[in-house]
Amino acid sequence: MSDIDDLEHSLRAAIDAAADEAALEAVRVGALGKKGSVSELLKTLGAMSPDDRKTRGAAINALKDGVGEALAARRVVLKEAALSARLAVETVDVTLPLWPSPANDGRIHPISQVTDELTAIFADMGFAVAEGPDVESDFYNFTALNFPEGHPAREMHDTFFFSPKEDGARHLLRTHTSPVQVRTMLSQKPPIRIIAPGRTYRCDSDQTHTPMFHQVEGLVIDETSTIGTLKWVLEEFCKAFFEVPDVEMRFRPSFFPFTEPSMEVDIRCDRSGSEVKFGEGNDWLEILGCGMVHPNVLRACGLDPDRYQGFAFGMGIDRIAMLKYGMNDLRAFFDADVRWLKHYGFRPLDLPTLFGGLSA
Ligand code: DAH
Repeated sequence: MSDIDDLEHSLRAAIDAAADEAALEAVRVGALGKKGSVSELLKTLGAMSPDDRKTRGAAINALKDGVGEALAARRVVLKEAALSARLAVETVDVTLPLWPSPANDGRIHPISQVTDELTAIFADMGFAVAEGPDVESDFYNFTALNFPEGHPAREMHDTFFFSPKEDGARHLLRTHTSPVQVRTMLSQKPPIRIIAPGRTYRCDSDQTHTPMFHQVEGLVIDETSTIGTLKWVLEEFCKAFFEVPDVEMRFRPSFFPFTEPSMEVDIRCDRSGSEVKFGEGNDWLEILGCGMVHPNVLRACGLDPDRYQGFAFGMGIDRIAMLKYGMNDLRAFFDADVRWLKHYGFRPLDLPTLFGGLSA
């Protein structure tokens, strides 16, 4: 019966040598699996004489049991070893400080913050947000806004034009957010009450001008709104935005082709100290242009100027951001310098709301 002893010997050696559970499983399959060495021996029992079966059969069964026990014992050892190895590498030092979460580290750009702030303020006054494309046609950017063909005001905008198409039409990068007025009046029935924040482009660059900048447009069209309504809306906006109880505003006559009358608005401020203070002092800062929507614009948008009237305003977002948060170089807004952003940026979870505070 030395073949059985030999097999047992070699199987036990293989079991002892198995370095992990996978290797041990391979030994088990090789011995006790369907075609395993021990299973093959068991299959020979049927053809044996009763005497042989008594002796040799008992030995084969003892082999099977012995190998099974050895496998089980080795499995326990290997399992424990594997667990200890994992515990050794996967230790957690609970005394380590927490990683700063992205919510603590990331910063919201002041332009995004100011856009959120003014959206919250105008939303509270019943304004919806409208949008338009950055790439505009001449019609929306100029013609429908009552800029006559060849009018010098078109040149004042330092427009970026695209190459003319075959039919001679030139697309352009919008020079202001005013084309969104036209798009809104063409697609919505009055009463209309929208703001349109977004990117605008002019070929210009110095400390207070960048080729891409941001504006917010406002438009109200109904049957009753007057300059009085416009003045109230702008005053409420400025008080809420600059977070002061009172602002003094100055409406100066001006010219825009798409409004009549047109005005520019300054706010009283004090620039004698290191930062600008609003509502006091002897300086005036221009912050926006506005006026009553020109009848030609209403007509170009299919509205009857004898029935509808309203006002519009346009404000530089970058400019009011600089005023409120005390930055002096517009170009820094677009430098993507994380140190600047860490200093001037806002925490991402502090959303500006009127009830919770705009810039808490
Ligand atoms: N679109 C003008 C600009 O970019 C700003 C402006 C002035 C917009 C008066 C208006 C407005 O809606 O009524 O210079």
